Amino acid sequence: MVEQAGALRQRIATMRDTALAQLQSVADREALEAWRVRWVGRKGELSALFVSLSGFDSAQRPQLGRELNTLKSTLHEELQQVESRLRGDSGAGPKVDASLPGRPRWVGGHHIALQVLDEMLAIFERLGFSIATGPEVELESYNFEALNFPPNHPARDLQDTFWIDDRVLLRTQTSPMQVRIMRSQPPPVRIVVPGRVYRNEQIDASHAAEFFQLEGLYVDRNVSMIDLKATVSHFVQRLFGSGRSVRFKPHFFPFTEPSVDVDMTCFACQGRGCRVCGNEGWIEIMGAGMVHPNVFEASGYDPEEVTGFAFGMGIERISMLRHGINDIRLFLENDVRFLSQF
Ligand code: DAH
Repeated sequence: MVEQAGALRQRIATMRDTALAQLQSVADREALEAWRVRWVGRKGELSALFVSLSGFDSAQRPQLGRELNTLKSTLHEELQQVESRLRGDSGAGPKVDASLPGRPRWVGGHHIALQVLDEMLAIFERLGFSIATGPEVELESYNFEALNFPPNHPARDLQDTFWIDDRVLLRTQTSPMQVRIMRSQPPPVRIVVPGRVYRNEQIDASHAAEFFQLEGLYVDRNVSMIDLKATVSHFVQRLFGSGRSVRFKPHFFPFTEPSVDVDMTCFACQGRGCRVCGNEGWIEIMGAGMVHPNVFEASGYDPEEVTGFAFGMGIERISMLRHGINDIRLFLENDVRFLSQF
């Protein structure tokens, strides 16, 4: 029986080594369960050793029993350790205080300029305009020449920009899309074009070197300035309230004739004059006009056949008016204290 006892002790030692070694490589709950069943389960290897105790006489059994019990508790302790490691805590007490109020999850949202743009686009879509977009890196010929800015014309100075080479630039306006669209399809045309534009500007509260514009173009037979005025007033009333009215002031743009600046009555004072409108009672919101015959010709349309109107406005500017924002630089700073207000 002495030898048999030695053999059992050998099995105990082997089992401890093998079982513990296996436990170290357990990586998930499933593997842990398999390990538990094999080694310490009711029909597992440890039980089998306990069963074999009955073959020993009563003088040896108590001692061997104690040794088996030691093995049993070692295996169970190690099992618990791995269990809690897999549960994600170190076993040194709970790390999570379930009684604390939860942390609200950070939820992102659309940039304020994008929200206002969406509203603007929805208004024009209901009027039957479709949406088009075009390249920010643009040919000089689309940005200026086809839009009737002759080379060296002073109107180009107002739109100084960043040049890639002497033919390619960052577009200063969304207006080149007028030409791109007309060259790509026959009349009629009813589009709005949102997009980023660039100017080589001295940056301050009302000037940025990059900003967004929304361009509009409407071409068909017999389109007149009345259509322009009706479209623009509808837009303004939808966006700023039904009490607004618009007025046209003569202006100059090379690609429209006649050209106008469009004002709307001040939404803060209803036209009486206040700080928002600089006591004017009116606020300028866009440039517009009737498409110049030269632009039609550069685009392959016959100016004897069709007429049209175009308009362009700054999306940040509209957002600033809409929400009382007083510095255009806020739009690009990505400061959540600003952005999360909208
Ligand atoms: N492109 C002009 C600008 O950036 C804005 C503009 C004025 C667009 C009149 C138009 C227009 O389509 O008809 O200053």
